[in-house]
Formats: sequence, C-alpha cells, structure tokens
Amino acid sequence: MTSNVTPFRNVKHASMLWAAPERAEEIAELHAKLFTPPWDANAVRGLLEHPAATSLVAVAGSPKAVIGFVIGQLAADEAEILSIGVAPNWQRAGVAAGLLEGLSRAARRGDAKRIFLDVAEDNEAALALYRKLGFLESGRRKGYYQRPGSKAVDALTLVLTL
Ligand SMILES: CC(C)(COP(=O)(O)OP(=O)(O)OC[C@H]1O[C@@H](n2cnc3c(N)ncnc32)[C@H](O)[C@@H]1OP(=O)(O)O)[C@@H](O)C(=O)NCCC(=O)NCCS
Repeated sequence: MTSNVTPFRNVKHASMLWAAPERAEEIAELHAKLFTPPWDANAVRGLLEHPAATSLVAVAGSPKAVIGFVIGQLAADEAEILSIGVAPNWQRAGVAAGLLEGLSRAARRGDAKRIFLDVAEDNEAALALYRKLGFLESGRRKGYYQRPGSKAVDALTLVLTL
C-alpha cells in the first residue's frame, strides 16, 4: 500500500551551524522559494561576510542540505534579524524556533540586550512564531511592504528583550 503522507520531520535530525559565506548559494535558493523579491547569492554572501554578521543555517539529510536560515547582525548592544526562512517541507517542526534560540544565545554572548526585526502585519505564521518566543510589538511602519498589484502592507517592528 502506498501513502501520500509527508514523512515526519524531526528537528532532532537537523543541525544548527554558523552560516559561512560558502552557504550563500544554498541560502539564496531557499530564500527565492519563500520571498518576493528574492535575494541573489551575492547579496546573501555580502551579508554573511559583514563583520557584524550573526547568521545560522539548519542543515539536514544526506548529503547535508540547508533547510533553514536566519540572517542577523549584532552591533553594540542590539541584534537585528534581517531574514529567516524554513523550507516548506520542514515547516512546523521547530526549525525556526531552534534557529532563533541559537541566534539569541549568540546575541547574549555578544552582550546584546535586545533583538529587533520587522515583519509584515499579515504574516500570520511569522507573527505566531515571534509571539510564542516572547517578541513584543514596538513600532509600525505604514505601507512598508509594497507589493505589485496589491495594497501596501504595514511592517510591525518587534523586539525581544534578552
Ligand atoms: C515563519 C517561518 C520561518 C516559521 O518557521 P517554522 O520552522 O515552521 O516555525 P517553527 O516550527 O519553529 O514554529 C514554532 C512555533 O511558531 C508558531 N508557528 C509557526 N508557523 C506557524 C503557522 N504556519 N501557523 C501558526 N503558527 C505557526 C507555532 O506556535 C509554532 O509552534 P507549534 O508548531 O508547536 O505550534 C516559516 O513559516 C517560513 O519560512 N515562512 C516563510 C518566510 C517568512 O515569512 N519568514 C519570516 C519573515 S519576517
């Protein structure tokens, strides 16, 4: 008998690693599946090579492939999340929560007191994730996300106190 049930993805089978610039192509490929407009590999490499970069990838499978990423920066006593994404077939397995936990630990070690990010106010999955992890709303940018053919959407700025 065949089954069309997606095999259970367990975050215990994923490893969280520092995102080296060599991962830029893989991250850009995943970014393009999740975001419009996508970031190209050069843009991602530039962020990973930045002196303030604090970025992680989640890898799984054999050979190991990138199934999630968080791109952050740490400056003075603040960290900022620039992008986070998880491959569709790995979502709801705790990968993003694991990446954010890793980033928070690194930010604390770097003496950061807060982590900031922007999120579209209609991104329910991301908002649920951030609220679960303790992020609170600290601002709103009106019409920040311009989407061709549809109404602009506000960005919410969220903050997590470490
Ligand atoms: C948002 C995103 C990164 C979440 O990644 P994920 O690995 O699926 O998240 P996790 O499995 O770690 O979820 C942790 C918690 O967040 C909440 N959550 C995550 N996705 C959710 C969804 N689609 N609906 C409701 N709650 C959700 C839940 O509380 C979840 O815990 P639970 O599964 O025990 O209920 C992923 O959906 C994604 O890549 N989206 C496209 C890119 C994007 O929008 N990035 C954010 C830009 S600001």
